[in-house]
Amino acid sequence: MNILLLGAGGREHALAWKIKQSKHCNRLYIAPGNPGTAAIGENVAMGVGDFSAITAFCKAQAIGMVVVGPEDPLVNGIYDYIKADPALSNTIVVGPSAAAARLEGSKAFAKAFMERQGIPTAAYKEFTKENYLDGIAYLKAHALPIVLKADGLAAGKGVVIAATHEEALSNFEAMILSARFGAASEKVVVEQFLAGVEMSVFALTNGRQFVLLPEAKDYKRIGEGDMGPNTGGMGAVSPVPFAQGAFMEKVLERVVVPTISGLEKEGLVYHGFVFFGLINVGGEPFVIEYNCRMGDPETEVVMPRLESDLVDLFLAMDQNRLSEVEVKIDPRAAATVVLVSGGYPGEYERGKTIHGLDTVFPAETMVFHAGIGQQGENLVTSGGRVAAVTSYGESIGSSVSRSLQAIQKISFENMAFRKDIGHEFKP
Ligand code: AMP
Ligand code: GLY
Repeated sequence: MNILLLGAGGREHALAWKIKQSKHCNRLYIAPGNPGTAAIGENVAMGVGDFSAITAFCKAQAIGMVVVGPEDPLVNGIYDYIKADPALSNTIVVGPSAAAARLEGSKAFAKAFMERQGIPTAAYKEFTKENYLDGIAYLKAHALPIVLKADGLAAGKGVVIAATHEEALSNFEAMILSARFGAASEKVVVEQFLAGVEMSVFALTNGRQFVLLPEAKDYKRIGEGDMGPNTGGMGAVSPVPFAQGAFMEKVLERVVVPTISGLEKEGLVYHGFVFFGLINVGGEPFVIEYNCRMGDPETEVVMPRLESDLVDLFLAMDQNRLSEVEVKIDPRAAATVVLVSGGYPGEYERGKTIHGLDTVFPAETMVFHAGIGQQGENLVTSGGRVAAVTSYGESIGSSVSRSLQAIQKISFENMAFRKDIGHEFKP
C-alpha cells in the first residue's frame, strides 16, 4: 500500500520511521517532511493545509492510507474533505473528522463533552464578550491559582495559570477584549487548578474499539527543574512508572472507556489517535486536555517502544478488528531529549549550520529531525525545536544518559537542551 504522511516535525520523522518498517508499506510519501523523513521515504512539497493538492496527489499516486500528524488539518476537516471525494472513499484516513477533532480544537467543547460523559476533569465555566462582566465577578471570587484557557487552537500557548486575581483579570481582558489569541480567545474557559503529576495516554480508536499505545510523560517547561515558560516539549520518557495497577485501571474505566463510548453515543466519527493529557491528583486521574493526534515529542518515545506493526494497527482500526489485536511493547525504557534554538520559546535565529548529525550513533540511539532544513550540503536549523535525540535503556535514567552522551557529538550555534529529562524517575 502507498502511504502519505502529513507533517514535518520530529513526530512525523518518528512515524515515518515506524511506518516504513511495516510489511504493508510500499511507497511512503511525506508532505512536506524534513531531511530526516527524506532519508526514509519521498518528501513532497505540499502544505498540510492544501487539501485540494493533497487529494489530487492521493489520486495520482494511488495512496491507500493518509496518516495525519498535526492537529491543524484535522480541526480544519482533512478527514471529511478526503472522504467526500468519491474517488477516495476507500482511502483510509488516520485522524478524526472535524466534528470529533473539536475535542482538541475547542476547550469548551471538550469540557462539555467530559461533563456529559461523566469524565473527571477540573470544574470550569466559559465566558465570551456577552457574559464578560459575569466572568470578572467569577474570577474575583475564584480560589487561587486560576487557570484560563483560550477556547481555540493557540499552538500550546493559550493557557495561563494566574497566581493572583490581578494577573487573572488582566489576562482575561487581553484574551476576550483585545483578542490576544485572535478568534481562539473569543471564548475563554476558566477552570480550577489541579495539583499533581502530568502524563499522557494514547489510544488508537475507530470510535468503537480501541487499543492503548505505550504511555509517556513530556517536559513542557524550557528550564531545568520544570522552570520558565512552556514550550512544545523539551523531552519525554516512556514508560511512566506510576502508570500501572490501580491508577491505570481508573484511567481505563473513568477516562478511556467513557471517552470512546461517548464518541459513539454522540455520533462523532473518529478513526485515529486520541491523546489523553492526564494529571494524577493523589492517585486519581483527571483529564487536563484531549488532543486529536499523537504528541510531539511523545511520539519519539512511543514509536520506538511499539513493537507491533503500526500499519497493521491502522488496518485493524479500519476493519473493526482492534479488539482482537494485541499491542506488543518493548520492555526497555525510552527517553528523548530535544535540542532547541537559543532563545526558544521566544525569539530565536534560524539558519545555523548543524554539525555532527551524520555521525554514527550507537544502535540504542536515534536522532529524529524536527526544525531542520537543507542548505546545499548542510543541515541548518529552521525552527525552535531542532531535533529529538531518543535512546533506549534498561531504566529511564540510563536512556537519558545515553541521549545526553550522543548529544555531545551534535552542535550548532546557541544550541540548548535540558539535562534533567525524567528527573523525578531517576533512581
Ligand atoms: P493544555 O494546553 O490544556 O494542555 O494546558 C497546558 C498546560 O497547562 C498543561 O500541560 C498543564 O501543565 C497546565 N494546566 C492546564 N490545565 C490545568 C489545570 N486545570 N490545573 C493545573 N494545571 C493545568
Ligand atoms: N507535547 C505536547 C503535545 O504534543 O501537545
